Amino acid sequence: MRLSDCHNIDDFRRLAKQRLPWPVFDYIDGGADDELTKARNTQAYAECDLVPDVLAGVDQIDTSVTIMGRKSALPLILSPTALQRVFHWQGERAVARAAEKFGLWFGISSLATVSIEEVAAMVSTPKMFQLYVHKDKGLNRSMIERCQAAKFDAIALTVDTIVGGKRERCARSGFSSPPRFTPSSLLSYAARPAWAMNYVFREKFALPNLDTHVRAGTQEAVSIQQYFGTMLDQSMTWQTAEQIRNDWGGTFCLKGVMSAGDARRAVEIGADAIMISNHGGRQLDGSRAPFDQLREIVDAVGGEIEIICDGGVRRGSHVLKALASGANCASGGRLYLYALAAAGQAGVERAIELLKDEIERGMKLTGVTRIDQLNRDRLRWR
Ligand code: FNR
Ligand code: LAC
Repeated sequence: MRLSDCHNIDDFRRLAKQRLPWPVFDYIDGGADDELTKARNTQAYAECDLVPDVLAGVDQIDTSVTIMGRKSALPLILSPTALQRVFHWQGERAVARAAEKFGLWFGISSLATVSIEEVAAMVSTPKMFQLYVHKDKGLNRSMIERCQAAKFDAIALTVDTIVGGKRERCARSGFSSPPRFTPSSLLSYAARPAWAMNYVFREKFALPNLDTHVRAGTQEAVSIQQYFGTMLDQSMTWQTAEQIRNDWGGTFCLKGVMSAGDARRAVEIGADAIMISNHGGRQLDGSRAPFDQLREIVDAVGGEIEIICDGGVRRGSHVLKALASGANCASGGRLYLYALAAAGQAGVERAIELLKDEIERGMKLTGVTRIDQLNRDRLRWR
């Protein structure tokens, strides 16, 4: 299977599986517990149908939206995800360049393998920094100050990882940051020599936004669950979020809001946007899918705060359904991560191109020429 054989996100997933050692693939692909929420995130879209209009004159369409004050060519954000140079040696650089090429927002994680400064200098496309609140307050301050100096466009504070999810695939494989070659996983790395050569001989693994303050994750191999459990601040409250928003002073997004009540509190602390998200089903298994929960939140706070529907998106039609329900845009991680793992920047570009094509085709077949024409009249639930 080659890149040119990939015609949808699931194809990239299969190619990524061929190219990655299984502990790395399972880290990306996996969710928490029984992975019910991960599966539901995508299935939710299948239980709602689009009702198209025809003869709408769709030769000229406009797929762009304004998100958090910046224009985006598509109603889709590439969500922040950790450890990207482990998935492909080009890592965050590939994702940033692909996002710039298509005019999209993208995010880098606190656990990014490329620095805030390098990403900011590299691309002009709007970018958000995803903040994990650590027990080490100096580290939190340092990340915020670095984002200010580098002129990041937004900070997204992730609030759904107060402890690590129970990721059983990772428990079995022993996946850690940095990846550790254990006797049981050695074979999986040896079976993927191209990945192993790149990992060993390219630029050394690092977490440059954290390693000024912590050893875990870069110098000491730890699982993500251990990292969350020991390094992050479980006493974080709404006051902490408001304080961070004030310290940062720029565009502020809360990532991982799921209840209408919390969406209301996000408005009250002055957040500009919320990402309705369950972290791609990697945290609380049994949590509701963002798309299932979207309408309730739109009805509560729509128009007062921007609403991003995050997770489970694998098709252009999923994006259209989220927008028709009232989201300002959709976002996703695995939709570009499989492609990154499969083929670096060329892979991410092809994945975005496919989704762009599906969004455009879907708009034309639905009979809309602009995103704001998508509304609930277009949807029916079974
Ligand atoms: C993530 N996600 C994530 N979120 C975050 O706030 N900080 C992070 O460091 C990461 N890291 C991360 C790694 C990997 C491998 C995945 C798959 C996800 C969650 C991410 O931002 C997003 O919420 C989910 O990916 C959405 O679900 P889908 O689109 O993957 O189904
Ligand atoms: C994850 C992190 C790092 O989901 O957010 O693996």
